Amino acid sequence: MDILISEAIGGRAVDQLKQQYQVAVLPDAWESPERLLRSIGEVRALIVRNQTQVTRQLINHANNLMIIARAGAGLDNVDTEAASQAGIVVSFAQRANSVSVAEMALGLMLALARKIPAAQLDTSQGGWARKRFTGMELYGKTLGIVGLGQIGEMTATRGRALGMNILAHDAFLNSGSPQLKPLEARLVDFPELLSNADVVSFHVPLTSDTRGMMNYERCCQMKSSALLINTSRGEVIDEPGLVRALQEGLLAGAALDVRGREPPEPSPLDQMENVILTPHIAAFTEEAQERVVQTVCSDVSAVLRGEPADHYFNFALPRR
Ligand code: MLT
Repeated sequence: MDILISEAIGGRAVDQLKQQYQVAVLPDAWESPERLLRSIGEVRALIVRNQTQVTRQLINHANNLMIIARAGAGLDNVDTEAASQAGIVVSFAQRANSVSVAEMALGLMLALARKIPAAQLDTSQGGWARKRFTGMELYGKTLGIVGLGQIGEMTATRGRALGMNILAHDAFLNSGSPQLKPLEARLVDFPELLSNADVVSFHVPLTSDTRGMMNYERCCQMKSSALLINTSRGEVIDEPGLVRALQEGLLAGAALDVRGREPPEPSPLDQMENVILTPHIAAFTEEAQERVVQTVCSDVSAVLRGEPADHYFNFALPRR
């Protein structure tokens, strides 16, 4: 077998690959690490989304693997070090879904600030509670962006279009970084961002530094009227800490597209009127998925032909 796709990934670009290569699409394979270990032996290319855990053990079982292609931006589910040591290209669709994620962050901000899901639910059950669903304008408010990479920048640009002021926290930028000027953004440390922002939106990758960076103590630093949006990775927020903070009214609401465990266990968050929960769909638009799948399929095709990948994380050509 040439190519193994271990999650629900399809479309035109996958159909084209099927014309040239032997492709196995096993949408549920990610659920069973044992099945993956059994299947990976002679595979030359592995295409995954975020659910397949591409571990060192899996990589060590892959005798012929030349490329691991991640249909998305985050690489937290791929052991990139093990892949590099084995001479395997890691390719990812880093920029292909940024617009969609930024639009989702903005959508969640508006929905939360105007209490749209709660109002919709109440109205569809016969209610007409206009005063209860009094919301907050975003105009003139401060948007705190945690992680000013491409998605953070696009979210900030959209916030600016609504008349918001931007604060940014990013460990890799300094006050002279060129991203800040067009946004008229001020770079601040995390506590300053938390205590001044009316909306805090997370756009960081999951790393040992960002895991749990938002916890109960950090929530205590927020304004009690502030909203929290997470479209990055669930593990960035310590969920029990957030639940406690919401129960104590330390912040006004939260919108979570991503969770520590996906799909999540039942949680007190499910019952909270000031919480919006969505199933990791920020990148799920027709347009983004077409770009994402096209990006990784073209890299897979290139590497299998012996040519360089265009969107590689480690190196363009496999060393195997
Ligand atoms: C990404 O990392 O690209 C998004 O979170 C979507 C995904 O994981 O597939």
